[in-house]
Amino acid sequence: MSAATATARTVPPAPVPGRVLVRALGVQKIYGQGPLATTALAEVAVEVRAGELTLLMGPSGSGKTTLISILAGLMRPSAGSVELCGACITDLDEARVAAVRRRHLGFVFQTYNLFPALTALDNVATVLRMKGLSAARAAAQARATLGHVGLGDRLHHRPGELSGGQKQRVALARALAGDPALVIGDEVTAALDGATGMRVIAILREHVRPDTGVLLVTHDHRLEVFADRILAMEDGRIVAERRIAQEKT
Ligand SMILES: Nc1ncnc2c1ncn2[C@@H]1O[C@H](COP(=O)(O)OP(=O)(O)OP(=O)(O)O)[C@@H](O)[C@H]1O
Ligand SMILES: [Mg+2]
Repeated sequence: MSAATATARTVPPAPVPGRVLVRALGVQKIYGQGPLATTALAEVAVEVRAGELTLLMGPSGSGKTTLISILAGLMRPSAGSVELCGACITDLDEARVAAVRRRHLGFVFQTYNLFPALTALDNVATVLRMKGLSAARAAAQARATLGHVGLGDRLHHRPGELSGGQKQRVALARALAGDPALVIGDEVTAALDGATGMRVIAILREHVRPDTGVLLVTHDHRLEVFADRILAMEDGRIVAERRIAQEKT
């Protein structure tokens, strides 16, 4: 037996970090031009790995929404590169970026961004149809996901007929439907009462598996106990990173 093999058998393996789901390098964002120019992101390098729930926290205006919009390919940086689930999206045209997003990403907007004319069921099913599922499979999966977020009795309501917290959960179901590798959310618990907020974060925590991850922007310190890692932003930079030991089940 070689020394290397003996070592491999006697030393417990180091925890293997999950694969990188999204990586940003040298990302800057400047809104506007001339005297009105605002530097929202100074120079950010960050990666989010599978197997982890990462929180992004920081004061209002520190650049959190800007950063996740760029990581998700919803906005172009002024400089720098972003790799999303293996694709360098800063090098791709809009159509290809949208295809990467559809395939790998679920995004929960702070303002929900639901289709107002569609029922809760159709809001979720439409996204699954865009991912390529048949109408029947999309409807069945949408029904199951809405049931999972506690909206099994609101399938045929339109957004205008739902409360803020219910709309937030339709948006969550839409992001989770199709089981994307990465879910990114902006203030997903802000509009929710304590109990519903805890239910939503528990559902997002359940989405974290060895091959999937979640990145959440939040001001809500109650979410910290669900996180593996907390990134702190200030003035367009990530200024601190903290790891939290989670009991793995
Ligand atoms: N479309 C825009 N045009 C010009 N400036 C913008 C635009 N969007 C954001 N900004 C500015 O960029 C900076 C970062 O904004 P961003 O929305 O990313 O902050 P945030 O950390 O998400 O804040 P909050 O916690 O209040 O949501 C702020 O100074 C903001 O005023
Ligand atoms: Mg924001």
